Amino acid sequence: MNPIVWVGGSLREPGQPVIAATDHGFTVGDGVFETLAVRDGVPFALSRHLARLAYSADRIGLPAPDGGAIREGIAAVLDAGTGSVSRLRVTVTSGDGPMGSARGDGPPTVVVTGVDALRPRQCRAVRAPWKRNERSAIAGVKSTSYAENAVIVEYARSKGADEAILANTYGNLCEGTASNVFVEVGGEIVTPPLASGCLAGITRGLALEWAVRAALPVRVAAPGELTMAVLDQAIAGEAHLAVTSSTRGVQHVSSLDGTDLAPGQLLRELSAVYELRAERETDPPVPSRR
Ligand SMILES: Cc1ncc(COP(=O)(O)O)c(C=O)c1O
Repeated sequence: MNPIVWVGGSLREPGQPVIAATDHGFTVGDGVFETLAVRDGVPFALSRHLARLAYSADRIGLPAPDGGAIREGIAAVLDAGTGSVSRLRVTVTSGDGPMGSARGDGPPTVVVTGVDALRPRQCRAVRAPWKRNERSAIAGVKSTSYAENAVIVEYARSKGADEAILANTYGNLCEGTASNVFVEVGGEIVTPPLASGCLAGITRGLALEWAVRAALPVRVAAPGELTMAVLDQAIAGEAHLAVTSSTRGVQHVSSLDGTDLAPGQLLRELSAVYELRAERETDPPVPSRR
C-alpha cells in the first residue's frame, strides 16, 4: 500500500508535492513527531501522543500544534486507508526557513502519514558504541533530528540485530534507538528514569501504570541505579530484558550482542497485562509527567 499523506488540511495524491525544499524540518531536522499504532482501526493512545507532541513542540520552542486539525488529519488518513492503515506518523516542523539553523517565521508544516507496517516480530539487540546525551538541548524530545538513531540502527543491522541499547554519558542504562528498556532483575522489573535522557515513551508510561494496577513488582530506577552492567547480567542469565514502543508493545529482547536471552517471567506477565489493557483502553487519559 502507498503511504496515505495528509498535509495541512487535505489528502495528497501519491507523488504529489508535500513540503517545500526549504522547509526547516527538511533542511535541518527542526521539528517534532509522533508514531502511533492503529489497533482495530483506532489510533491507540491518541490523547497521550498529542500531549507528548505538544510537550516536544514546547521544548524546542514551536507553537502548540493544533490538536483538532491533527485529529481531523488522522481521521481523513484512516478513512482513505479503509482499514489497512496500521501505523500513523504525525510530523510538525517549524515550516519554511532559511538554509541556516535560525528559523523563519512561517506557519508550521503539519503532515499525517498512514502506512500498513508490520509489527516487528522480535527484538534482537546490540549494545551501541555511542552514548545518549542526557544534557542535550533535545534530550527527551521526540524531534525529527533522528539521524543519530538512523546511524545506530544501521550499526545494529550490520551486526544482524534490529535495535541498539544506549548508555547515557554517565554510563547508565538509557534506552533503545526507538524504544524504552525494562529489566527484570532481583524479582522485580525496573526501567531507567527520565533523568537518564530517555524519551518518556507512551508505552513505557502505560506499562508502568498498568503493571502497578496488576500488582506486578515494577518501578522506575533511581538515577544512577541501573548501569550498563545490568546487560552483562542479562547475558549471564541473571536478568531479562524487554523493550517497549508503540510499534513493538512490550517485547522480550531475544538476543543481545549475538547471545540468546531467555524471556523473563515477570516481563512476560507485563507484556500480557499490557496487551489486555490496550485492547480495552484505546485512549487512556493523559497523566501528569513523571
Ligand atoms: C528514542 C525513543 N525512545 C523510546 C521510544 C518509545 O516511545 P513510544 O512508546 O512512545 O513509542 C521511541 C519511539 O519511537 C523512541 O524513538
